[in-house]
Amino acid sequence: MDAPEITRPLEARRPGPLKGTAEVPGDKSISHRALILGAMAVGKTKITGLLEADDVLNTAEAMRKLGAAITKDENGSWRVHGTGVGGFAQPNDILDFGNSGTGARLVMGALATTAVTAHFTGDSSLRNRPMQRVIDPLRRFGATFAARQGGFLPLALTGASRPVSIEFIVDIPSAQVKSALLLAALNAPGHSRISQNALTRDHTERMLKAFGAEITIEQTDRGEAITVQGEAELRPARVSVPRDPSSAAFPLAAALLVPGSEITLPDVLLNPRRTGLLDTLREMNADIERVNCRETGGEDIGDLVVRTSTLRGIAIPPERAPAMIDEYPILAVLAAFAEGRTVMRGLGELRVKESDRLAGVARGLEAIGVHVEELADGLIIEGRGPDGVGGGARIATYKDHRLAMSFLVAGQATVHPVSIDDSTMVRTSFPGFRGLMRGLGADIAPPAR
Ligand code: S3P
Repeated sequence: MDAPEITRPLEARRPGPLKGTAEVPGDKSISHRALILGAMAVGKTKITGLLEADDVLNTAEAMRKLGAAITKDENGSWRVHGTGVGGFAQPNDILDFGNSGTGARLVMGALATTAVTAHFTGDSSLRNRPMQRVIDPLRRFGATFAARQGGFLPLALTGASRPVSIEFIVDIPSAQVKSALLLAALNAPGHSRISQNALTRDHTERMLKAFGAEITIEQTDRGEAITVQGEAELRPARVSVPRDPSSAAFPLAAALLVPGSEITLPDVLLNPRRTGLLDTLREMNADIERVNCRETGGEDIGDLVVRTSTLRGIAIPPERAPAMIDEYPILAVLAAFAEGRTVMRGLGELRVKESDRLAGVARGLEAIGVHVEELADGLIIEGRGPDGVGGGARIATYKDHRLAMSFLVAGQATVHPVSIDDSTMVRTSFPGFRGLMRGLGADIAPPAR
């Protein structure tokens, strides 16, 4: 018999003003990529500020099984001794990516043009997420797959022994698919050209340049086209991982909602492909200042100063979705406390994240007294104003870290406390979440019953 599952409910209630500086952890997307590209370079890559959360640690473990040496120094920085492009070893164990779609899909790409066979799996959420979107284009490079019916994990991947370059248009607005193909292209002869309409996050492209890959990006009338020179040799790099804007979104949202708050979020990644939430909140009347803006290691960063604000509902342009795709759950919570209606559309991808986030957010908001209309590709949320959300419910989080953190933020501004059924998944992206929030003054604790 399976061991009983351990869940950790938590409850949030209204605190006094939130004050102080919140150093959120390193960016998840950049952390995965630093480990993977480090493993594909010849020599030693040094990474500072790596996100030490389950998702990223699973990618590190996969890279070790593929032959990279990965260690953490006493001062907290990480070293990756890579095998070189095409140098991955045949793993003698299953690669388990836990909850991480990014880890699984990017590593499939990295392996697709190297002649080894690897078995991929993940947790119950990841085993239900679509992999056909990477399987189909990676087959064109010559890789073969044996996946569970419908294109789901677990699957076996055998990389091409004689890879070929490809030209491919990615029609899903997914940075993971684009990135998987860019990584596969590194070990195919000649040029591969990967195009995408949606302007999804470009960390792979930026980091490939830093690791010495030959890559050109062309703006086209249908998005952009990225050309990668194959049979590449990557040189090791120093990667300084900025703090994750998707994690920063939670304390930022709490500070907007809790009366009298003012917090600072230093060194946050402000890559324009990730700042859709900030653009949207500006339109919603949020008081968020960007200060000390600078560039580090090919990425824009800055400090955010956030003060309590009365928000107003807006219609969010659907084309902005890729720049804030992970932020819709917390934005939906903010919209519930806004004055007026917020309309969010173009969000079909949210149904295939760590959970069906459109359904999960809608059920959660309804439970705390907010009227929500769930559309096939979006949500319409009737804001109830800063003091108008009742709360007083236990929210089902469907093992989704972002739903868990979003509703723990909601409970800081509802009339009655809000609890969540399970906080264990928070460690996949933001292990220190509760401690950081409590450091600002939040009241988040296990419920009395
Ligand atoms: C990510 C891309 C996004 C995002 C995920 C991280 C990445 O997924 O939701 O959290 O690091 O490339 P999709 O590419 O599936 O949209």
